[in-house]
Amino acid sequence: SPSDPDLVERARAAKEKLGDKVFVLGHHYQRDEVIQFADVTGDSFKLAKDAAARPEAEYIVFCGVHFMAESADILTSDDQKVVLPDLAAGCSMADMATAEQVAECWDVLAEAGIAEQVVPVSYMNSSADIKAFTGKHGGTICTSSNAKRALDWAFEQGEKVLFLPDQHLGRNTAVRDMGMSLDDCVLYNPHKPNGGLTVEQLRNAKMILWRGHCSVHGRFSLDSVNDVRERIPGVNVLVHPECKHEVVTAADYVGSTEYIIKTLQAAPAGSKWAIGTELNLVRRVANAHPDKEVVFLDKTVCFCSTMNRIDLPHLVWALESLAEGKLVNRIQVDTETESFAKLALERMLALP
Ligand code: 13P
Ligand code: SF4
Repeated sequence: SPSDPDLVERARAAKEKLGDKVFVLGHHYQRDEVIQFADVTGDSFKLAKDAAARPEAEYIVFCGVHFMAESADILTSDDQKVVLPDLAAGCSMADMATAEQVAECWDVLAEAGIAEQVVPVSYMNSSADIKAFTGKHGGTICTSSNAKRALDWAFEQGEKVLFLPDQHLGRNTAVRDMGMSLDDCVLYNPHKPNGGLTVEQLRNAKMILWRGHCSVHGRFSLDSVNDVRERIPGVNVLVHPECKHEVVTAADYVGSTEYIIKTLQAAPAGSKWAIGTELNLVRRVANAHPDKEVVFLDKTVCFCSTMNRIDLPHLVWALESLAEGKLVNRIQVDTETESFAKLALERMLALP
């Protein structure tokens, strides 16, 4: 079983044997049994910055999902090998934008005569191919902690933004932080001809939102917010910006994983919080603050199933393999994709 003390001991021993040769990164949504072995934990922005922090480590074991491991490979040197303990740890949102669909979208924008005015801004939660497309077309990557700064930058470069692949982060940032209206945004559906949009709609739009979403955060609803306010008078509702616009609008605080953790640290004893994000993180935050009342925003359990694929048995297997000199589950982005994707990621890291 994952809590098997034997597995804990094996992970510890393999890590000790590897010493400085291994650097373990863990996203906040990872299981407790895994996060205890992370040298660094963070949200996706922090982990992208921290990936290059140990240039002497030969192996970077990434406890998170595929697109994060790809980004770590892009941002580290070629001698450093990035390992994802379970290759099935993908992200359904990232899968909602394929390279072909995005190339087709760009053709639609060109036919509408607006491609030159459009700057792509892609959420970190996208494949290396999409990041390369973004870099090639003068755009930047963003995460949930710097989406406003990324949009500020993009609107200095052009008049319109194509925001990929999370419609909610795009819409929430545009309307909540940039003062745009819902009418400034249109939704591009990659499964419909011309994205399901008329040329006029495309020409009038400021934000062209890709029709992608997170299946975990998409489960929170306006009812979840109303119910918790009724159940717990005086509760502060704190949600991730991947939630639907109506949820974000009804919440008191909105921010990335790292923001959620810091907000709870700063909150006074006795305060009450309902948090709308992934459950592993909410539980950890609740356990860290026994002096505050911390509840999950919705009663239905809400893990990210792909994040959870990285469990202790997979981590032990990866670490023991590496300790025996066997490289497993390497994530390696090809050179051409890497160069353009890196351009886009570096634009993000250089945002003011
Ligand atoms: P952050 O790590 O930027 O908060 O994003 C959450 C997420 O969905 C990661 O997949
Ligand atoms: Fe993807 Fe959502 Fe899971 Fe994050 S929480 S990895 S966006 S499916």
